[in-house]
Amino acid sequence: MAYVRRIVSDPEPILHKVAKKVSDLELKMPLTQQLIDDMIETMHEAPGIGLAAPQVGIGKRVIVVHVGGEDDGPYVVVNPVLDDFEGEVVATEGCLSIPGIVGDVTRAEKCSVTGVDRAGRKFHLETEGLLARCFQHEVDHLDGVLITDKAVNIREAIHVEAEATADDEATVEI
Ligand code: NI
Repeated sequence: MAYVRRIVSDPEPILHKVAKKVSDLELKMPLTQQLIDDMIETMHEAPGIGLAAPQVGIGKRVIVVHVGGEDDGPYVVVNPVLDDFEGEVVATEGCLSIPGIVGDVTRAEKCSVTGVDRAGRKFHLETEGLLARCFQHEVDHLDGVLITDKAVNIREAIHVEAEATADDEATVEI
């Protein structure tokens, strides 16, 4: 069973802390597997296209991302590392942990994501566009960085589209 957990919101301190790496042993534990199930459920229910463990109050390096349909996620990445950054795109972003606020955030157009999946197998994905943006947003969460730390033109969201599209002009709530 997966359960919807409470999404913590700014200024809860855990959102501003660097999350800890997950060990191989820890990843196998039922508690961690339950956390992953619950994070996917919580992301879908929000609805959002990504969630990081600190957003449900757990300071561990675990993220879930589901931008596309059934064929494109949900991705679960433990101890993710981003690399191979290419290009720059500015787009309006929101965050589930900062309700009602959006800002314009510059992100790499493309990046690679390396880590392990929930079974401890090596995970590697080349991403671009909205998927790349979402991974960058979630890894920022693991480093205690929120959009309010890096966005410009921070403002009240008049209407945030929960259904994100690949259109970089659209506001995405991550
Ligand atoms: Ni967020």
